[in-house]
Amino acid sequence: MTTASERTDAKPAVTVIGLGEMGFALAGAFLDGGHATTVWNRTPDRAVDLVARGAERAASVRDAVAASPLVVVSVKGNATARAVLESAGDALAGRSVLNLTDGTSAEARAVAEWVGDQGAQYLHGQIMTIAPGIGGAESVIFYGGSDAVFGQFKATLQLVGGRGTLISADAGVPALYGMAVHGTMWGALNGFLHAAALLSSEGIETRRFLDDARPSVDALLGFLPVIADEVDRGEYATPYGALQHHRPSVEDLVRESEARNIDAEFPRYTLGLVNKAVQNGHAHDSYSQLVEHFRKK
Ligand SMILES: NC(=O)c1ccc[n+]([C@@H]2O[C@H](COP(=O)([O-])OP(=O)(O)OC[C@H]3O[C@@H](n4cnc5c(N)ncnc54)[C@H](OP(=O)(O)O)[C@@H]3O)[C@@H](O)[C@H]2O)c1
Repeated sequence: MTTASERTDAKPAVTVIGLGEMGFALAGAFLDGGHATTVWNRTPDRAVDLVARGAERAASVRDAVAASPLVVVSVKGNATARAVLESAGDALAGRSVLNLTDGTSAEARAVAEWVGDQGAQYLHGQIMTIAPGIGGAESVIFYGGSDAVFGQFKATLQLVGGRGTLISADAGVPALYGMAVHGTMWGALNGFLHAAALLSSEGIETRRFLDDARPSVDALLGFLPVIADEVDRGEYATPYGALQHHRPSVEDLVRESEARNIDAEFPRYTLGLVNKAVQNGHAHDSYSQLVEHFRKK
């Protein structure tokens, strides 16, 4: 009889270690996709519903790793991911490990190196959706690490996110991509929420503003490729929209915020960046020149 670990068909057996909100969703997607799925969680009870749906519950990490060629890890923190995998001992050799645990790029690389030392292949994934989005055709996952693992399990990986892309042979790069998206998001959201406070101080609903100003707000995203090209080239000179033209508008925003007694720290920070760049001779440069400020420690 063929055991789950020996299956080499189009639906290889999968092990999921860690059944928190995310791991539970991942295991569910593999089960729904028809894969033999083995699960392990520190708190065993979290596997009950998955077992009812057809999953095998392993008694130990070692058994879980031994059960499948593809071992998916989703726990809190890469130190935990490493510690859990360590308890598999020599069962790791020959396995493909897909670590979907968030952390820094250095942490991901350290786990990758250690897994490689155990004779296993490694792929790191940065999930860009919340758990209910797992399995969605539009759900994005950035992968970095073994090209061979990505290729071998491509159809299986599609089950968790339809828009999974191998972006690098380096296991640390997906974390950077994730942070770059989130950093952009938080910056934009801070600006938007400050704007919402400004508007509500006048009794204007944020939604009404968005409906009226939608073309202007949407145009921001369309502007990003221009900014990206300037940053990549390191050439910032521009005939239009130079920092000297941004400055009075940012000053207005600061003064308006102060006059309305709403927090002005965020626009004041922006004004500080613009002032510094102008003082350093970049009045005629594009806003993208500010990347040089962030590049310096
Ligand atoms: N939830 C999301 O929507 C989402 C979205 C994107 C990315 N992620 C990432 O996915 C990963 C898992 O997140 P989650 O939301 O599933 O977290 P969670 O619901 O808090 O679950 C945490 C998991 O880690 C396990 N764990 C924690 N400490 C452990 C230890 N010392 N030894 C063994 N297992 C341990 C927990 O086991 P117990 O059950 O025994 O506590 C549980 O399985 C994280 O890196 C998170 O950033 C999550």
